Amino acid sequence: MKIGRVTISDRSSAGVYPDRSGPEIERILQGTFGANATFIAAIVPDELAAISNKLRELADDVACDLIVTTGGTGITPRDMTPEATRTVLEKELPGFGEAMRMQSLAKVKTAILSRAVAGTRGRSLIVNLPGKPTAVAECLEILAPAMREGVAHLRGEDPHQQQAQQQQ
Ligand code: MTE
Repeated sequence: MKIGRVTISDRSSAGVYPDRSGPEIERILQGTFGANATFIAAIVPDELAAISNKLRELADDVACDLIVTTGGTGITPRDMTPEATRTVLEKELPGFGEAMRMQSLAKVKTAILSRAVAGTRGRSLIVNLPGKPTAVAECLEILAPAMREGVAHLRGEDPHQQQAQQQQ
């Protein structure tokens, strides 16, 4: 199984700021998906074409099962991750953003400043996360079960049957 992780940040892509959120995605999802998961890492600036081109490449050419972005979901003029993601999505999954915002809000009152979206392109599940490493951890805790099930659906696997087999 292949997971693309994309850090979207002008400063990280220019090397002036270390990327801590991308490695955090990898650390957490390695635990969720296990040793079979391999990661493809990318850092792109907050540019609409750069983001959508990277998402298309990871979905269409690399055939990632899951692509997780971090950053650029807020409201500053340079934040355009949701707009770029929407240009590549075939089916939108509004529940991912709704759950992330609602459940994060209980803990972090600024959580509703994120406009993160999610959905599918071909057999790839694409999910936006906010940029802070702590936000990455908080949101992945909320979304990981649905990510696992969604990836299994797109791979044509039956997660319930697999669970039953594991318990035998
Ligand atoms: N969600 C969680 N769970 N935890 C957070 O700390 N930060 C918020 C929000 N969502 C946050 C969060 C803040 S302060 C902002 S500005 C937005 O995400 C957008 O962040 P981004 O532009 O880095 O994507």
